[in-house]
Amino acid sequence: MIGRTIRRALGPYERQASELYRRMFIDLEDMSALVRDWARPARIIEIGCGEGALAERLVRDFPAARYTGIDIIPHLGRMYAGPADRVQFRQVTADDMARDHPFAFDLVVINDVLHHVPPDLRPGILAASRTLLAPGGSLILKDWVRRPTPIHAAVYIADAVIGGDRGVAYMTANEQRRLIADSFGDGAVLMERSVRPWRQNLAFHVRVPGGES
Ligand SMILES: C[S@@+](CC[C@H](N)C(=O)[O-])C[C@H]1O[C@@H](n2cnc3c(N)ncnc32)[C@H](O)[C@@H]1O
Repeated sequence: MIGRTIRRALGPYERQASELYRRMFIDLEDMSALVRDWARPARIIEIGCGEGALAERLVRDFPAARYTGIDIIPHLGRMYAGPADRVQFRQVTADDMARDHPFAFDLVVINDVLHHVPPDLRPGILAASRTLLAPGGSLILKDWVRRPTPIHAAVYIADAVIGGDRGVAYMTANEQRRLIADSFGDGAVLMERSVRPWRQNLAFHVRVPGGES
């Protein structure tokens, strides 16, 4: 996400600039298509929904689903421009949401969030995801993979300098697998796939046991 000072300077061009900027690193249309391939949710929660860029695609692509976006920032969902009737944005932690709404969702989406979360707090986000999911539900987790490539340097500069998050810290693919296994158990990952345009955009489909399928 672009930092606040740069966003203010962009004025009326902020939305277009944010979309263009994001597209350099992730194709959110491909991300939403991947979610469609992997899940058929009626109740979606996105942890770390930010300003609502992915939210807009998910709400469009799941026209019968209810969507809840949560984040710790104050103006979450600020750029969301889709329908309002089956959508809510709430400034609440994943822990508090899980405490108040256990097993309430069929799908948890966490996209480009974990590298912004301090490493010692990441297991808590995964544990909260587990609690939020109904039996048979899915977690779709996408994060950037740490690997020494030229685009990795560009991603770091984007997050740390343009985005202003000096604490950003990426995991390797194996570290991501370990983190998932610690909360969901070995063998919980059904699928892995890259999201365009970079192979370092790695998504996991994690299933909670139970439900009908
Ligand atoms: C790059 S944005 C991604 C936004 C959205 N998921 C998308 O793909 O359009 C990362 C978001 O993660 C949020 N975030 C960071 N730490 C978090 C935490 N502990 N709990 C929830 N959200 C968090 C940030 O506030 C930010 O809005």
